[in-house]
Amino acid sequence: MIIGTGKFILRPFRKGDEVSLRNNINNEKIVRNLAVVPYPYTIKMAEEWIAKNLKEAKKKKPLMVNFVIDIDGEVAGAVGFSNIEQHKAELGYWLARKYWGSGIMTDAVKQAGKFGFEKLKLGRIYAKVYPWNKGSMRVLEKNGFKFEGVLRKNALKHGKLIDEHIFAKIRK
Ligand SMILES: CC(C)(COP(=O)(O)OP(=O)(O)OC[C@H]1O[C@@H](n2cnc3c(N)ncnc32)[C@H](O)[C@@H]1OP(=O)(O)O)[C@@H](O)C(=O)NCCC(=O)NCCS
Repeated sequence: MIIGTGKFILRPFRKGDEVSLRNNINNEKIVRNLAVVPYPYTIKMAEEWIAKNLKEAKKKKPLMVNFVIDIDGEVAGAVGFSNIEQHKAELGYWLARKYWGSGIMTDAVKQAGKFGFEKLKLGRIYAKVYPWNKGSMRVLEKNGFKFEGVLRKNALKHGKLIDEHIFAKIRK
């Protein structure tokens, strides 16, 4: 499914995305905020991730659904759902450094949220944010996500236990 908006479109991953995915995600400022993305990020990792997404898309009940934030044909970022259960899923997202602060992510989360509630029929969408990531918290708040609390030492990253701030939005 392609979701068209002004500055970008949301679309599935496809073969050919490897280079722009690697080039744009391979930034310490991005990866330090993400739970599962390794750094440095290689072309091989990009290939594996795209293959995984293509395989998942064929499933009747996918466990994850990810969209590329496509600007001029490139992977400028991504937004998607993981840990999909019948009624809820976890939202994750990132955007290339050069586009930060332009409102793109706020809009992408808005479009993805709509997809989650209307197409995936979710009742609850949640996101977990590291304590220092105020920009991400703001993106969620601007989209009507509510802060629910701190999951103390819920994440393990580079051998360190990190608190996670949980935000959620409920279908009206
Ligand atoms: C988080 C991220 C997606 C935000 O992208 P973005 O393009 O800056 O988002 P937007 O421009 O739509 O909105 C950012 C908002 O946060 C605010 N903000 C940014 N940095 C901030 C800070 N340090 N403190 C407070 N607010 C901040 C901006 O002012 C803006 O709010 P406003 O419109 O009320 O002024 C981007 O920084 C990113 O990709 N980070 C790395 C990956 C990541 O953190 N993913 C989320 C994991 S939970």
